[in-house]
Amino acid sequence: MGSLLFHLLVFVFLILHLHGFHVVTVDPTLGFTLLPLNNSNFHVLSPYNLNTSSRYSFIHGIHKLWVLASDMPHAPQSLTLPRTELDVEVYHYASGVWQFEGQAYIPSGTTGVCIMQIFGMNGTNGGSTMMLRVYNGALMYYRRKLVMDGIYGRWFQLNVIHDVGSRNIKVFIDNELKLDVNQLGGDRFSFKFGVYMQKFSSYFMESMWKGIKIMKLLE
Ligand SMILES: *[C@@H]1O[C@H](CO)[C@@H](O)[C@H](O)[C@H]1NC(C)=O
Ligand SMILES: *[C@@H]1O[C@H](CO)[C@@H](O)[C@H](O)[C@H]1NC(C)=O
Ligand SMILES: *[C@@H]1O[C@H](CO)[C@@H](O)[C@H](O)[C@H]1NC(C)=O
Repeated sequence: MGSLLFHLLVFVFLILHLHGFHVVTVDPTLGFTLLPLNNSNFHVLSPYNLNTSSRYSFIHGIHKLWVLASDMPHAPQSLTLPRTELDVEVYHYASGVWQFEGQAYIPSGTTGVCIMQIFGMNGTNGGSTMMLRVYNGALMYYRRKLVMDGIYGRWFQLNVIHDVGSRNIKVFIDNELKLDVNQLGGDRFSFKFGVYMQKFSSYFMESMWKGIKIMKLLE
């Protein structure tokens, strides 16, 4: 009987879906304006002693970023852990409502790593105002809160909305709201994605990205 009910529900959901209704998901981009973006708008941060191409590639529309736990930081003077990150350099912001969108893929085994952050310049908290990290196949908000489990080995869509005025950050995975938090600090912000080593990391860390979009709510 329970199984019959389940199949009936699946059928109803399928019909609604086929008719363009989104039963549980939302469109986080509604009302936002897409801003121009191309690859020269990204700044690559990677181990300073290596050529960028030994830690970053862009092939068939896919950004692939990787780093080793034994790598150097991104700058000789830096005391931070190694990283290969793309900074959306052209859209650093200090006010307004901004949105980052990207399709992400984390290979199994990559762990103890930040894959996306909102950098908060001139902030406390080590400079980040929001971090999404991977620990053993789970996407986490720092090490504080589970965002979503089971993220290894599949593409998922990430949407991050930052409302600077209300100090609010919302994270959507596959169009479902998964995290709703306050920004932690900073007065100018920047979206970054890739791999930034954290404690308890694997030796090899990698993430892949495609379909990167930057959007803004225009008044
Ligand atoms: C990329 O965007 C910049 C503006 O941020 C622009 O000056 C440049 O011409 C663009 N490049 C291409 C190849 O479209
Ligand atoms: C970087 O690339 C250049 C040119 O391809 C090469 O001559 C140089 O040895 C490379 N440096 C490192 C550290 O791999
Ligand atoms: C951030 O910069 C402003 C000036 O631009 C300064 O007044 C403030 O003290 C700085 N805050 C931190 C945490 O460094």
